[in-house]
Parts: sequence; C-alpha cells; structure tokens
Amino acid sequence: MSRMSSLFACLVVILSLVSSAKAQLKPYYYENICPKALSTIQKIVYEAVSQETRMGASLLRLHFHDCFVNGCDASVLLDDTPTFTGEKNAAPNQNSLRGFEVVDRIKDALNSECKDNVVSCADILAVAARDSVVALGGPKYKVLLGRRDSLTASQAAANNSIPAPTLNFTRLLSNFKSHGLSLRDLVVLSGGHTLGFSRCTNFRSRLYNETSTLETSLAASLKSNCPINGGDNNLSPLDPASPLSFDADYFEGLIQKKGLLHSDQELFKGDGSGADGLVKYYSSNPVAFWHDFGSSMEKMGKMGPLTGTQGEIRINCRKIN
Ligand code: HEM
Ligand SMILES: *[C@@H]1O[C@H](CO)[C@@H](O)[C@H](O)[C@H]1NC(C)=O
Ligand SMILES: *[C@@H]1O[C@H](CO)[C@@H](O)[C@H](O)[C@H]1NC(C)=O
Ligand SMILES: *[C@@H]1O[C@H](CO)[C@@H](O)[C@H](O)[C@H]1NC(C)=O
Repeated sequence: MSRMSSLFACLVVILSLVSSAKAQLKPYYYENICPKALSTIQKIVYEAVSQETRMGASLLRLHFHDCFVNGCDASVLLDDTPTFTGEKNAAPNQNSLRGFEVVDRIKDALNSECKDNVVSCADILAVAARDSVVALGGPKYKVLLGRRDSLTASQAAANNSIPAPTLNFTRLLSNFKSHGLSLRDLVVLSGGHTLGFSRCTNFRSRLYNETSTLETSLAASLKSNCPINGGDNNLSPLDPASPLSFDADYFEGLIQKKGLLHSDQELFKGDGSGADGLVKYYSSNPVAFWHDFGSSMEKMGKMGPLTGTQGEIRINCRKIN
C-alpha cells in the first residue's frame, strides 16, 4: 500500500513537472487580466506607424531579434549599464534596431490602463509586430500570449544566433533549423523584407563586386546613395518595389535578381536549387504568402518563451525589476 502511494506521489510530481514545463501560450491570455491590453497596443502602434511608416518594419524586426536570442523573452530590450552588457550593441543590432521608444510608450500606457503591471514586454513585442504588419496591409494573424520577461540578456548569443546578411543558403537554413524552423519558415519569414530598409554597409559589397549577383541596373542606381567609401548608414529599401506595404513583391524581386542583401538573393538562384521553388510559389501566390506568414510568425513567437513562474513581468522594459 505504501509502495502504491509513493508510486502515486511520484506520478503526481512527474505529471505536474510535465504540465508546468509545457505551460502553453494562448491568444486570450489577457482577456480577464487586462481586457484593454490588445486594443491599447494596437492604438499606439497605429499612431506610431502613421507618424513614421517605417516604424512598422522596425517593430516587426524587433520581435525577430528578440526571439532568435534565447527565445521571445524581451532580452533585446534591456539597456546596457556600467555593470551589465545587453544585446542592443551586439553586431546585428547596433545602430540598426529601432522602435524602443514606441515599446516604452506602450508599456507606460498598459501599466496605467491595466491598473497593475501585468503585460510582459515579450508579449508587447509579439503583438506590436503583428499590429505593424496589419497597419502596413498584411495579415491579421493570431498572436499567442503569456510570455514572461527575462532576467538576463546575452550579447554573445545575439552575435551568434541572429543570421548575418553575408550568409549563404546552406548557413541560413542551418541557422533557422537551429531555432526549430524549417526551409519554408526561412523563405516565408524572409518575406518580412517586403518592409523596411537596409543600411549601405550591409549591401555595399554587392555594388562594387564583379562576382555579385545583383541585377546590374539596380546595382548602378544604388551606387549614388551607397558610395565605395562613407555613407555607411544611408538607407535603401529591402523591397525596391514597395518598402512600405506588405505584399509579395519581395519574392518577385528575388526572381529578377533584385535582392538587396546577399542573404535575400541566396533564396533564389534561378537554377531550381535550394529555395527557388518556394520563392516562385510565393511570388505568384500572394494569398498563400499572406496565410503562411501568419503561421510562421506564430511558430517563431513560440520559440523558448518563459512561462509560469519563470522570469518576471518587467515594470520598465529597459531594466529588470
Ligand atoms: C533570414 C535571415 C535574415 C537576415 C540575414 C536579415 C538581415 C537584415 C539586415 C542586414 C537588415 C538591415 C539592417 C540595417 O541595415 O540596419 C534587415 C532589416 C530588416 N529585417 Fe531582416 N534579416 C533576416 C530575417 C528577417 C526576418 C525573419 C524578419 C521578420 C519576420 C526580418 C525583418 C526585417 C525588417 C522588417 C527589416 C527593416 C527594418 C527597418 O527598416 O527598420 N528579417 N534584416
Ligand atoms: C559582439 O560583437 C560586437 C561587434 O562585432 C563585439 O564588439 C562584441 O565584443 C561581441 N560580443 C561578444 C560577447 O562576443
Ligand atoms: C557556405 O558557407 C560556408 C561557410 O562560409 C562554407 O563552408 C560553405 O562551403 C558554403 N556553402 C556553399 C554551398 O557555398
Ligand atoms: C565579392 O563577392 C564575393 C561573393 O559574394 C565575396 O566573397 C567577396 O568578399 C566580395 N568582395 C568584396 C570586395 O566585397
């Protein structure tokens, strides 16, 4: 009998461990905790995007750079201090990530709207990314919620885990696979480059290089704003056809060899290899891109979240409580 009951106790412990480890994110997480959370985020995102259209692109990228470094836990939002090194000055982020002030505005509004500190910074990033996509004409996909915020950040992980624009197809794919994402996710999520801009420093070598695959007339026209020397921070659109609207033009651009970044063009070689088939598919099926973007964003948003009693809900997204 005592053997039975200790077996039973053991089972209970195991089951509760399993269920706490699997604490699920859910779309209606804030419905009772703070009913106005989502409408408050949406309102501030729409305001920010109407003031500066590019902000929608910047907020989308912020969520990506959060999720690819130890999961979607708002680690990217922690400021450096004399005794703490965060991710903001990691190679892929420095002089590049933007939107932090918008996140601050959202957090302040939620802290007063919810009468308490209940909405995590990690969830704010996930919802703001979706609302940005919608504001610029993209799909209103479902966002799962209930993430908590990290107590740490890792500059080394940010340097190593976020893919660089110099990577080739093989390495892009292995990077995405290391995050539990597939070839299709790589292609679909790279479609985020239907929005926003890159600095000259990230594509200069494609303009002044005989072996570059960049379409020659586009390369020529980009040179004035991206000289051989200087102008590192000058911007050009990632999707030359329509950088401020969410559409499938990015994929059509790749087929025309107009991918701005080396990593973009690696997705379409034109010889049927690698991701060629998927790029062709999405270029001629915008509705499929629309749908699959939502699925892949949901999948990315589920990467390594802190849940339950892990981490904390930050009062100020820039620092731990
Ligand atoms: C596949 C690997 C990826 C690489 C190598 C990459 C690389 C880059 C680079 C180098 C920039 C320009 C940054 C600068 O010059 O300051 C950029 C911008 C951007 N990326 Fe990516 N990216 C990738 C995937 C993604 C994903 C998955 C998303 C979102 C779903 C995304 C969304 C964006 C957006 C929206 C911008 C423009 C941001 C703005 O204008 O503020 N990227 N990316
Ligand atoms: C991350 O990269 C930056 C820029 O290249 C470098 O200065 C920094 O030392 C790197 N950090 C770590 C922890 O590797
Ligand atoms: C991709 O890049 C890696 C590392 O730079 C290199 O070892 C590999 O040969 C490249 N693959 C292809 C197919 O070019
Ligand atoms: C030219 O392009 C090749 C292939 O992309 C690259 O390996 C090389 O570093 C580039 N050279 C310069 C000067 O940018």
